[in-house]
Amino acid sequence: MSLYRIAVIPGDGVGNEVAAEAVKILKVSADKYGFKVATENFDWGCDYYIQNAVMMPENALTILQQFDAIFLGCIGDASKVPDHISLTMLLAIRKGFDQYINLRPIKLYPGVETPLKTATPETVDMVVVRENTEGEYSTVGGLFKQGTPDALAVQTAVFTQKGCERAIRYAFELATKRKKFGSSAPVGMVTNCTKSNALNYSMVFWDSVYQQVAKEYPDIKTDMALVDALTMWFVKNPEYFDVIVASNLFGDIITDLGAMLQGGMGFAAGGNINPEKVYPSMFEPIHGSAPKYAGKAIVNPVASIESIRLMLDHLGEERAAVDIQKAVVKTLSLGKVKTPDMGGAHKTHEVGDAIAKEILSGGID
Ligand code: IPM
Ligand code: MN
Repeated sequence: MSLYRIAVIPGDGVGNEVAAEAVKILKVSADKYGFKVATENFDWGCDYYIQNAVMMPENALTILQQFDAIFLGCIGDASKVPDHISLTMLLAIRKGFDQYINLRPIKLYPGVETPLKTATPETVDMVVVRENTEGEYSTVGGLFKQGTPDALAVQTAVFTQKGCERAIRYAFELATKRKKFGSSAPVGMVTNCTKSNALNYSMVFWDSVYQQVAKEYPDIKTDMALVDALTMWFVKNPEYFDVIVASNLFGDIITDLGAMLQGGMGFAAGGNINPEKVYPSMFEPIHGSAPKYAGKAIVNPVASIESIRLMLDHLGEERAAVDIQKAVVKTLSLGKVKTPDMGGAHKTHEVGDAIAKEILSGGID
C-alpha cells in the first residue's frame, strides 16, 4: 500500500479553513482508493514571522524535502508583514525545489456562474503552463540612490535556454494527451503567450525556443498570441484555447483572468510542479489569503480541493483524482450547497463535506 507524506502549510488568513477541506478530501480519497496519507502541519507564515523574524525556518526546505508533496493554503497578510517580504516564502519554495511548472487548469464547471457571457462549461476548458522559476521573477536587480532625486530601480528578467525549453516542452507533451471535457480526442494545440513585438531580447528568444521545441511535435498545432491580445481573446473566444504556455509574469496575470472565466478565484487551483520528482511539488489554490474573511468559514474550498486533485494526479493516484473531479462537478451541478461567492449561504466546511460525501457514495473508477 502506498504511503504519501504530505506537508501542509495552511499559511495566513483563510489558509487554515481551506487547508482543512483539502486534507479532508485527501483522507477520504485515501480511504476509498486504499492508499495512506500522513499529513504534518507547519505553522509558517506571517504570525511565525512576527515571532521569529523569518517566514519559515532556515532549514525549511530540508524539512520539506522529506515529503512527497506539499499543500499550501495561502500566504500574506499585509497588516502584519509587507507582501514583498511574506511572499518570498512562496517563491523560495518554487525556486528551491525547482518547481519549474506552474500548472493552472481553467475549466468552468456546470452550475458555476461567471460574469462573462462568453464563458460556459462548453467554452471554458484550457490549461495554462506557467514557467515558474525564472523570467520576470528572477530577483536580479537592485535599488540605487534611494531617497534622492537620482533614485533608480532595476529588475532584470532572465530567460535561459533550459528554463524556456523545459516549460515549453512540458506544454507540448501535455497537448499530446490532454482532452477537453467530454471530448474523446486531444485538441493538440499550444498557444505561445508572448510579447515579442516589444520585448526584443527576452521574448524574441522565448519565441525561438518555442519554434525549436515545436519542431519535435509535428502533430501539435502551433499558435501565438501577444499577451495583451490574448487577454482579449480569453474573453471573446475562450473555446479557442487548449494549452497556453507563458512566462512567469504573463502566466501569473492571465491566470487571474482565467479564474474569472472559471467562476472566480474560489475555483482556481494550481500545482507548482517538479516533473522529475527530484523534489516535492507544491499544490495551492491561486487565490490570496483574504485576511478580512479569516475565521468566518465563508470562503469557497473548491480551489483547494481541486489542488488536491492535481496533487493526487501528480502522485500517480489518477483514479482518485478523476473521482475528486466527478464529485466536485456533481456537487456544483446539484447547486444545493454553495458558499456566498456562489450565491449561497453555506460554510466552507459544508461544501467540503458535500464533496467528501459524493466521493464516498460514488463508485470506484
Ligand atoms: C500567484 C501569486 C504569486 C505570484 C504572488 C503572491 C507572489 O500571485 O501564485 O499567482 O505572483 O506568483
Ligand atoms: Mn497570481
